[in-house]
Amino acid sequence: MHGTLGSTAVQIDPAILYFGTPVVLIGSTNDDGSYNLAPMSSAWWVGWRCMLGLARNSRTTENMLRSGECVLNLPSAGLVAAVDRLARTTGSNPVPPGKLYRGYRHEKDKFGLCGLTALPGETVSAPRAAECPVQMEAKVAHVHEMAQDDAAWRGNLAALEVRITRVHAHPEIMMDGASNRKRCFGPTFH
Ligand SMILES: Cc1cc2nc3c(=O)[nH]c(=O)nc-3n(C[C@H](O)[C@H](O)[C@H](O)COP(=O)(O)O)c2cc1C
Repeated sequence: MHGTLGSTAVQIDPAILYFGTPVVLIGSTNDDGSYNLAPMSSAWWVGWRCMLGLARNSRTTENMLRSGECVLNLPSAGLVAAVDRLARTTGSNPVPPGKLYRGYRHEKDKFGLCGLTALPGETVSAPRAAECPVQMEAKVAHVHEMAQDDAAWRGNLAALEVRITRVHAHPEIMMDGASNRKRCFGPTFH
């Protein structure tokens, strides 16, 4: 037998079911018209729809519910330092107690902090991140309140279905000779 092939699975109790997912940088617009940008991973796509699992108390969630819009920016592996700079920051002021406890700080200018360039969306007022190879403008289509059956988590999590309205991509990730297919995807592009 090689590696883990043929291994017998054991029952585990993981603290969190994050097995490795792509990072999405969600661009949204604050109520004063300024931009917010936040990393998140609980995202999956079906056609031109995307489901986003978000904490209710994030500035991003508040912005999306108020404006009905966002941009899903997909960073390349080369942008990992920018993503790291955004970690443990929030556009919320004051910082929600749970985040304060986990070491989060308020950051008003997330684009400035991470060094990415904000571009206006064409179908939404939310910002694109110019350096991200894929930037998807989107409108909120449906909101599902998660964990309603759990008193501890009720009201804290939402699954937002968004409808993609426009997709921008860096030409170098496109497949040769095809205008609608990517060469490669996710953390594999650099
Ligand atoms: C790599 C990474 C993945 C994350 N994934 C999620 C996620 O899937 N859902 C979520 O609500 N927060 C996620 N977070 C935490 C948010 O970034 C955090 O709540 C942040 O404060 C949101 O910013 P905002 O309050 O300005 O919207 C993730 C953070 C990092 C660094």
